[in-house]
Amino acid sequence: MTVEVSSDSGAALQPGDNQALNRQSAIGQSGDNMNARGLHVITWGCQMNVYDSARMSDVLAPLGYRPVATPQQAEMVILNTCHIRERAAEKVFSELGRLRKISDERVAAGLGRSIIAVAGCVAQAEGEEILARAPFVDIVLGPQTYHRLPEMVARAARAGGAVIDTDFPVEMKFDFLPADSAPQVEGNLTAFLTIQEGCDKFCSFCVVPYTRGAETSRSLPSVVAEARRMVQGGVREITLLGQNVNAYHGDDGEGGTADLPTLARALAALPGLERIRYMTSHPRDMDQALIDAHRDTPALMPFLHLPVQSGSDRILKAMNRGHTAGEYRAIIARLREACPDIALSSDFIVGHPGETEEDFEATMQLVRDIGFAQAFSFKYSPRPGTPAAGQPFQIDEAVKDERLQRLQALLRVQQDAFNADMVGRTVPVLFTGRGRKPGQITGRSPYLQPVHVEGSEDLIGRTVQVAITQRLTNSLAGTLIRERVCA
Ligand code: 5AD
Ligand code: SF4
Repeated sequence: MTVEVSSDSGAALQPGDNQALNRQSAIGQSGDNMNARGLHVITWGCQMNVYDSARMSDVLAPLGYRPVATPQQAEMVILNTCHIRERAAEKVFSELGRLRKISDERVAAGLGRSIIAVAGCVAQAEGEEILARAPFVDIVLGPQTYHRLPEMVARAARAGGAVIDTDFPVEMKFDFLPADSAPQVEGNLTAFLTIQEGCDKFCSFCVVPYTRGAETSRSLPSVVAEARRMVQGGVREITLLGQNVNAYHGDDGEGGTADLPTLARALAALPGLERIRYMTSHPRDMDQALIDAHRDTPALMPFLHLPVQSGSDRILKAMNRGHTAGEYRAIIARLREACPDIALSSDFIVGHPGETEEDFEATMQLVRDIGFAQAFSFKYSPRPGTPAAGQPFQIDEAVKDERLQRLQALLRVQQDAFNADMVGRTVPVLFTGRGRKPGQITGRSPYLQPVHVEGSEDLIGRTVQVAITQRLTNSLAGTLIRERVCA
């Protein structure tokens, strides 16, 4: 499928190539059906949206929709939106204006207008508003109703009127989606797999519980079956996705419930699956069983994204995070004890209502104490309908800017030091493609750093030990040590 991915970087520090990984998620094959109708999906936001875009393409394939590269060529355009940070709604309306113009140009050229659908979290939160302000939109659908898309398209085509579906249905959308391709990146060797959605934690600043609904987990057998298909298709690394992925509690198919460590072990047993990652986790669900899994399951990569948001207990309480800074530090200590190689990534918000200079300094101190290999940091931005938006003591933009700069400077130093420290180490690299220069191949370290070596293309798809010799601007260079052939 064709996916236009644009990461809403906001004020985020853009570390390493993790964002590049997102951007590369545009893949897929064009069918050669003569009666094919063009489908163009524009994806904003997180990997879950990338995954959802691929699944929406899958459900529409039986209706003859095939990916096209531009909205000009498309009989249907889906705008898959993200609500998590600033000015999401305005961005959507401006993009819809552009799409409407393109649709009008198609009509003028005798091609017929395109069906315009808005999906994702902004659709969920502001569906009525979208139809009121952009009446030319045909379909508005929330993240829980993608499996109903074919029916909505048929209804929209018949009625010529708008269709809105942003319910949280009782049935799980996963059970209705075709077992087709999921979005895969980097030469089909790495893939994302959504295992859990929604969140019941209600952090003060966050829209997710309102847009994605309550926590739901897919069953273990369905996740394993999808992973098996991916591996049979050549995938060697799977990133398990969920807003609260470590709260995973899927039906185990035997009358019980499986947690994330159980699922990770089941996946690690799939021959050919080399690497497992998961994101995004919450500190409250980082239990000992999962920490132990990092010690006992070699396929579980030693790189964990564990957002802390703030280092101040007062602000963590105001954020309703349900843990203290000390508890976060203790989790990190236990993780490091279980898996000394583990590197950490996190999310931070500066300028949450009520944040004093002292609170912010506590965040800086937590960063200094822990040391992060990578981080995303944001200025707090009020999301309508969330508790923090209505709280007193909103922080001045200038103060937020200044704090964000200080925090990002510190995080950048830590990230640089982490990358520099790789020189002299030997790490397994999963080779995913050719390098830029002839004779070079490129892959990823366990920490998602791009690594280039001189080597044979036969190694693409394999994991090989590499001695890191040099740090480049956004990547590492190394030499092959020995080859480990995977099944
Ligand atoms: N303002 C700023 N950052 C936010 N995030 C979520 N909501 C907000 C908001 N209202 C950040 C959090 C979260 C990440 C995905 O986005 O740090 O972990
Ligand atoms: Fe949002 Fe908090 Fe849930 Fe994460 S845990 S999705 S920040 S409410």
